[in-house]
Amino acid sequence: MLSNMAEWRRTHSCGSLTGKNEGETVILMGWVQRRRDHGGVIFVDLRDREGITQVVFNESAPEAQQTADSLRSEFVIAIKGTVCKRPEGMRNENLVTGEIEVITSEIRVLNNALTPPFMLDEFNQTSEDIRLKYRYLDLRRPQLQKNIMMRHDLTRKIREYLYERGFLDIETPFLTVSTPEGARDYLVPSRVNPGKFYALPQSPQQFKQLLMMSGFEKYFQIVRCFRDEDLRADRQPEFTQLDIEMSFADRQDVIDLIEGLFIKLFKEMKGINLTAPFPRMTYADAMEKYGHDAPDTRFEMYLKTINHLVADCNFGVFAEACKEGSVKAVTAKGAAEKFSRKDIDGLTDFVTGLGAKGLAYVKINKDGLQSPLIKFLGEELMAKIVTEMDGKAGDIIFFGAGETGPVNMYMSKLRIQMAHMLGLIKPEQYSLTWVLDFPLLEWDAEERRYVAVHHPFTSPMDEDVPLLGTEPKKARAKAYDLVLNGSEIGGGSIRIHRSDVQKQMFELMGFKDEELQRRFGYFVDALKYGTPPHGGIAFGIDRVASLFAGAESIRDVIAFPKTQKATDMMCDAPNYVDDKQLRELHIKTTATKDA
Ligand code: AMO
Ligand code: AMP
Repeated sequence: MLSNMAEWRRTHSCGSLTGKNEGETVILMGWVQRRRDHGGVIFVDLRDREGITQVVFNESAPEAQQTADSLRSEFVIAIKGTVCKRPEGMRNENLVTGEIEVITSEIRVLNNALTPPFMLDEFNQTSEDIRLKYRYLDLRRPQLQKNIMMRHDLTRKIREYLYERGFLDIETPFLTVSTPEGARDYLVPSRVNPGKFYALPQSPQQFKQLLMMSGFEKYFQIVRCFRDEDLRADRQPEFTQLDIEMSFADRQDVIDLIEGLFIKLFKEMKGINLTAPFPRMTYADAMEKYGHDAPDTRFEMYLKTINHLVADCNFGVFAEACKEGSVKAVTAKGAAEKFSRKDIDGLTDFVTGLGAKGLAYVKINKDGLQSPLIKFLGEELMAKIVTEMDGKAGDIIFFGAGETGPVNMYMSKLRIQMAHMLGLIKPEQYSLTWVLDFPLLEWDAEERRYVAVHHPFTSPMDEDVPLLGTEPKKARAKAYDLVLNGSEIGGGSIRIHRSDVQKQMFELMGFKDEELQRRFGYFVDALKYGTPPHGGIAFGIDRVASLFAGAESIRDVIAFPKTQKATDMMCDAPNYVDDKQLRELHIKTTATKDA
């Protein structure tokens, strides 16, 4: 019963026919989305990547009608027919093709299909595991098709923009040495070099800098990066960066280039006009007001440290926290009415789930303050805090107290959670901000050494170079992150281009001579042969695409994503390999195979 396409050529896509095509004879090809039998007249929603067209089989073509009777979901068919306007009242305003239908004269069944494990329009009721196992089917869903095509559009526009500005698209190796971006490496054993391993790049960082040393001046690449780290909704083990590097550039040059790029992307893809310069804030401000280095600036509701008010108070929890940590407060406007007792308990559970010891609050009622804290703090101090926090009748002020790091972490999440509950975040709202003046290093108490906040190639501010020898913690970096709606979409820096400073950085980070030489010797040497000042940035394309698509997870903009456990459910990767393969690679594993 299957036919081939002999002589038939597609005349239109399933997303293109409108009333203007009335009377034309067309050939469409695609998948059967739905078949409905209305007492002999059969309606098929025919789908291809451009859209859906209603095709009708009636008694005017009995043979086609008979074939249509046997059609099932996801069969692949070709039809020839005439475009007709749908009868009045049957039009579908939601569909580009909703004004017309195609009355079929001939049909060819190009392929049949097993009953799919889930119906595409019922994906909501299907677990993500099943959908990932049958990813090739899930990808047929119009929403995912739209996302993947949007992503194509995004990278095409990025390339256009950078080509026009003289950036060269240069590839860099995947089989390489460790690139220190802070995650674990994926390793690849070398068969011909027994016992030796390549590392897959966490980013092309060293290579793009080496390209600057080689004189290419402006480089970009849309490139896969590999990081073995704990995965979340916005992290994948392999992900894609837009990677950029420029010679003879300072921070402002990079910022200008990127603002121009995002102005173009927002205008052409979202119809939103942004203006340069984008808002900027310092890392210190971001941490103080948002509790996070990727601040969600779509709404205000700032956090505020109130140590100066409560350091000597009678509430042990607050007074204690002030000694080495922080007491931070946030005012939720209008929450007294909007949050029920249950909501507040829910928020308390939310932050305790994140490691908080409690969530103190004061409710500002019309007739006075209501809080379990009043008995500890007293009316007077409580009133001072309310004034400091700009609390008005109808508001609730929440408090977090403890070590500064954790307090910032859960208070920043509380802030976002409450913004959702209070309806402060509008759909299709986009807020970009640069975060600048990051510290260069942070002290890793566990490993007892400094680690780079960005990566070890980031230059300190010129005036802070002497601090490397005295108080490294105080040195600020020539680094910048671009944040969109509370998500770090990109980050970069002006690089160290002096070999002595680079060596000093590595030493501060605990690399001893021998290891430094083995891992980064080539790089420190390369810096000695006439390295131009240079800097760059890299963006997470998956993150940008998911924000543009309004997707909940970056998985929705990646054709073949991995699960939270870094597995590919469809191909069943990673997997065991033959003993012979392992022997060739000079590898013995200590793990036992599953039964
Ligand atoms: P960084 O490590 O900040 O910088 O990475 C740049 C951007 O890549 C995205 N990103 C990720 N996206 C998805 N899954 C992941 N696991 C993941 N990790 C990072 C983020 C991030 O902002 N070489 C430097 C850049 C430079 O200095 O030029 C680098 O890789 O959006
Ligand atoms: P307690 O004396 O433990 O009943 O605490 C009084 C109030 O302070 C309660 O509302 C607790 O949720 C809150 N609380 C306790 N510890 C903390 C903390 N570390 N940060 C913020 N609030 C806290």
